[in-house]
Amino acid sequence: MSESPSVDQQDFDAPLVAAWQRAMAAARRPLQIPGHKNRYAADAPALGDDLLRSLVRDDLPLQGGVDDNAFTHHYLAQAEALWSAAVGADHCRFLVGGSSQGNIAALSTITHPDRPVAVDRTSHRSTHAALVITGARPVWIYPDLDPEFRLPIGIPAADLQGVSADVTGCFVTSPSYVGSLSDVPGLAAAAHARGIPLVVDQAWGAHLGFLPGRGALAQGADVAVTSVHKALMGYSQTAVLSMRAGLVGRGQLDRCVDLVATTSPSGTLLASIDATRAVLERDGGAALDRTMELVTGMRRRLSAVPGVVVLDDSNVPGGVDPFKVSLWLPRTGASGVDLNQRLWDLGHGPESADRDTLVLTMTLLDEPAFVDEVTDCLIALIEEGRGEPRAGASAAVWSNEPEVVVTPREAFFASRRRIPLADAIGEVSAEQFCPYPPGIPLLAPGERVTQETVDAIAIAGRVGRVAYCSDPTLRTIEVVDSL
Ligand SMILES: Cc1ncc(COP(=O)(O)O)c(C=O)c1O
Repeated sequence: MSESPSVDQQDFDAPLVAAWQRAMAAARRPLQIPGHKNRYAADAPALGDDLLRSLVRDDLPLQGGVDDNAFTHHYLAQAEALWSAAVGADHCRFLVGGSSQGNIAALSTITHPDRPVAVDRTSHRSTHAALVITGARPVWIYPDLDPEFRLPIGIPAADLQGVSADVTGCFVTSPSYVGSLSDVPGLAAAAHARGIPLVVDQAWGAHLGFLPGRGALAQGADVAVTSVHKALMGYSQTAVLSMRAGLVGRGQLDRCVDLVATTSPSGTLLASIDATRAVLERDGGAALDRTMELVTGMRRRLSAVPGVVVLDDSNVPGGVDPFKVSLWLPRTGASGVDLNQRLWDLGHGPESADRDTLVLTMTLLDEPAFVDEVTDCLIALIEEGRGEPRAGASAAVWSNEPEVVVTPREAFFASRRRIPLADAIGEVSAEQFCPYPPGIPLLAPGERVTQETVDAIAIAGRVGRVAYCSDPTLRTIEVVDSL
C-alpha cells in the first residue's frame, strides 16, 4: 500500500478504489466478517501465514469492509454510474460471478417460463443453464459458417427475421470464441421492429465498449454482458451487465441480477472493475490504439506464413474482435493441438485449439516486444510442425443443430436414467456435454441425442476436456426417463 499513491492524490475518479485503499489503510480489526479479520494485511504474524498471507492479504468484503454494513457511502453505486457513463449505458451492475452470472441474469430479463426465446445455439454453457433456470423454450438461431473454414462468421440479422413472431427476446454472442462479430445493429433493428429486446453476450469484448460506436449497446443492443477479466484487467470472475432503458427496465435487470448474486461480494474484485474503467478512461485511448495496431501487425505477419489463414476483416463479413488472433491451419499441415501444447510448455498457453484452429487472446498488457517475440516463436513452431496440407474438419460445436424435444428446464428436472452413450440415439438428454474451451455444449438438456452428437462427444473427449456431464469417462449419459 505504501508504495502506490492513493487514488485521492491522482487525477481521476475511482470511488471504489479510493474507498478500498482507505479501508486497507485503516487496518480495522472487525468483530464481524471477514473471518480472516484482515490479519494477513497486518504486520504481525497470523495463523497459517505460510499458506494464506499472499493469497488473502488484499481481500476486503464490500459490506463491512470497503463500505459499511448499510452501504452508507454508495461507493459501489458511484462506481457503477461511472462505468455506465463510460460505455454509454443507462444502468449497469458489477458482478463477481463472471459473465456466467451475467448471462443467467440477462436471459432472465427477456424470458418467461414456457415462452419461446430466440437464442444463439453457439452460446456459452451459462446461457444454456439460464434456459434451465428460466424455463424458457429456446428457438435456436445459428451463426453463418465460412464455407471452407467451417468457423462461425457472425449471426446475420436475417436469422431473427425467420423465427416465430411470439419470441420474447433475442440472445446472441458477439464476439464469438474465434473473434467473429455479428451484425448487432441489424439484429437490434430486427428485434426492435418486433418490440423485443436484444441481449448480446459480449464477454470477450469488454474493450469494445470503450471504442466509439463498437460496443453492443452503442450498436443498439438493450443489454450487454462483458467480462472484465478476459480482454481487460479485472480480477478473475469480474464482469459487468449493462443496459439501455426502453425495452428492458432497470428494476427488472436488478431483480434478475440479485436472484443469482452473492450477498458477500469481494470489495477487492469489485474495486478492480472500477480501477479498470478509470485506467481505460485515463490511458485507454492510446493503449487501445496500440494493442489494435500490434494485433493487426501480428495478423499480417502470420498471414504471410504459407498456408496460414488468419480470421480478419477480409474474410469475416461483420469483421473481427480487434484483440483476437484466430488461425486456421489445415493448409500448413501443422496441428493446432501440437502447437497448443508447445506454446503451453513455453508458458504462452493459447486461449483454445483444436486440430485445425488456434485462438489467441491479446490484451492491453501485451507490449510490443512480447508480441514480436511470441509471433516469431509461433511462426517457428508452425514451420517445425509443417506437413502435408489437409482438408479442414468441421468442429461440431459450430455446426451442431440439435432438435429441442422438451424445454431445458423440463429435461433437467425430469426423472432420469443412466444408459450407455452409444445406446442413447433417439433419447432426450438430461444433461450438458460441453467441450471446454470453448464452453459451448454439444448436447444440452431437452435435446435429442443423435449419432452425430455421440461421435462429436467422442472426438472432443479425445482432444480435450468435455465438462458438465455426470460421467467424465463419457461412456454413459443421463437421459430423460419420464417428465
Ligand atoms: C461467450 C462466453 N460467454 C460467457 C462466458 C462466461 O464468462 P465467465 O468466465 O466470466 O463466467 C464465457 C467464458 O468463457 C464465454 O466464452
